[in-house]
Amino acid sequence: MNRNFIVFKNAEVLADQVSGLLMNQIARAKGSQFHLAISGGSTPNLLYAALASKYADSVLWQKAHFWWVDERMVSPDDPASNFGVVHQLLFSKIDIPEMNIHRIRGENEPFQEANNYIRQIKGSLNMNIGWPQFDLILLGMGEDGHTASIFPNHLELLNSERICEVVTRPDTFQQRITLTGKAINNAEKVCFLVTGANKVGCLSEILLKKEKAKLLPAAYIHPINGELVWYADESATSFLSSAYNFVI
Ligand code: 6PG
Repeated sequence: MNRNFIVFKNAEVLADQVSGLLMNQIARAKGSQFHLAISGGSTPNLLYAALASKYADSVLWQKAHFWWVDERMVSPDDPASNFGVVHQLLFSKIDIPEMNIHRIRGENEPFQEANNYIRQIKGSLNMNIGWPQFDLILLGMGEDGHTASIFPNHLELLNSERICEVVTRPDTFQQRITLTGKAINNAEKVCFLVTGANKVGCLSEILLKKEKAKLLPAAYIHPINGELVWYADESATSFLSSAYNFVI
């Protein structure tokens, strides 16, 4: 069985199972800190809810440090705030030290905040050949194949020499701060969470290594020395049959 690509019955089962896998990884990690960067969007919300309902009293929250893969440049109480959603679904329900939550301050001036976030990352994480090494990065994938806030019309962000950049979402002109491709690919482990029939197109292009994947940012996520895992549900992988095989 390919441990790096696991298909779950549906999004609810995926969230339930991945919550346990995540807590096990935090428990097994050496040292007193586990640095996890999480994504926004709707897919991970079931995971955050599962973590809150199953592990609210876990002592592992003392060890877990939450960072963001990307953030919309809005105030934390704005419905679009990635931090705001996780605070409502998870942080407000668990005993986690405030110092373990390293949010991107969406209310600040974007370029100054990007520099501030880079300073925080450099001051907290192990650095490997000049890049921070997150223990785990959870990514989503948009219908257009974007990941983090690296959109198809800005593939150059995959090779930026900065840990994070200020970007503008092309369809909404919303300003965001995003980790760059090199920062993501320097992680110990990267997990994609992909659910829903609307992701079939890009997921099949990427996993079956079709020509169009060259235009999709999510196709360029391959940790240099780390592990890449895809967790998907049956709706997002309806293209799969026994005839298909792929190596990721
Ligand atoms: C964001 C995310 C983004 C997200 C994808 C998938 O801030 O929007 O970081 O990269 O993961 O857009 O979003 P869904 O989970 O809502 O499909």
